[in-house]
Amino acid sequence: MPLPLSSKHRVSIIGAGKVGSTLAQRIIEKNLADVVLLDVVPGMPQGIALDLSEARGIERHDCQIMGTTDYAETAGSDIVAIAAGFPRKPGITRDELLKTNAEIVIAAAKQAIAHSPSAILIIITNPLDALTYLAWKATGLPSERVIGMAGMLDSARLQTFIAEALGVGIFEVNAMVLGGHGDLMVPLPRYCTVNGIPISELMDAATIEKLVTHTRNGGGEIVQLLKTGGAYYAPASATAVMIATILGNQSRLLPACAYLDGKYGLTDIFVGVPCRLGASGVESVVELQLTETELTDLHASAQSVRKNIHEAIALLENF
Ligand code: 2OP
Repeated sequence: MPLPLSSKHRVSIIGAGKVGSTLAQRIIEKNLADVVLLDVVPGMPQGIALDLSEARGIERHDCQIMGTTDYAETAGSDIVAIAAGFPRKPGITRDELLKTNAEIVIAAAKQAIAHSPSAILIIITNPLDALTYLAWKATGLPSERVIGMAGMLDSARLQTFIAEALGVGIFEVNAMVLGGHGDLMVPLPRYCTVNGIPISELMDAATIEKLVTHTRNGGGEIVQLLKTGGAYYAPASATAVMIATILGNQSRLLPACAYLDGKYGLTDIFVGVPCRLGASGVESVVELQLTETELTDLHASAQSVRKNIHEAIALLENF
């Protein structure tokens, strides 16, 4: 049954696996938008949507959700979030997923944007930074309307580890992680604070280094534990914050994977940087004064994203 037109925002989620369905739950239960959940597996998105909508009487939200296999039903979306593709499994790195997930994400992005040409596109599927670039190229959207998710996720992990190490409440903790969402991501302890106090004044360098390593391995650790896939609660939370920021035109300054055209000395690439997010997508990229080491690390991370992009383009036919 088509979702009746409402005055609410509409978010389409492509891929009704763990990440997509958890994201759908977060969005409707936070009352952010109506959701269209799309998957290629017949019955699956419809079943999940029905289950989630039957909880409305208890969760007391006002949003509708429908499941579909038909891109036409996603028409008029304000945001399209792509979570379709295969998750990581033990022994498989994010990068090895490249070809399969590139094909899936490119096809999904093109079909979704054909029905919602004004939408903002958020890419969640890994390898996230390279796929964000490919989705941008494939759709021809303005770069500010194509965003990758992971900075919020990696920063949230570091926030959690800092709060746990210090035994302080999470509300006071802020963290910043830049770079690609991979082993070379760039956590920035200098920009991590507890109620404005730099963490370097609250813990020693060895502890900070341990938390940084834990953050870099955060996704992999969950893959090792789950064995059948990757994390989904925190990725869905991170995406939901970005969606709330965009739909609410909140101009929050958040780390996200955005297009760089010279900032940080990087051009023609999508990589994690602090962005002001609002109704038009990436309103601006903030260029931090990085130390030489931080900048070198960011460039190394960007270089591995670039390698993925080139490999994907070589593997894909007709791109
Ligand atoms: C993670 O870091 C799945 O890439 C995702 O958990």
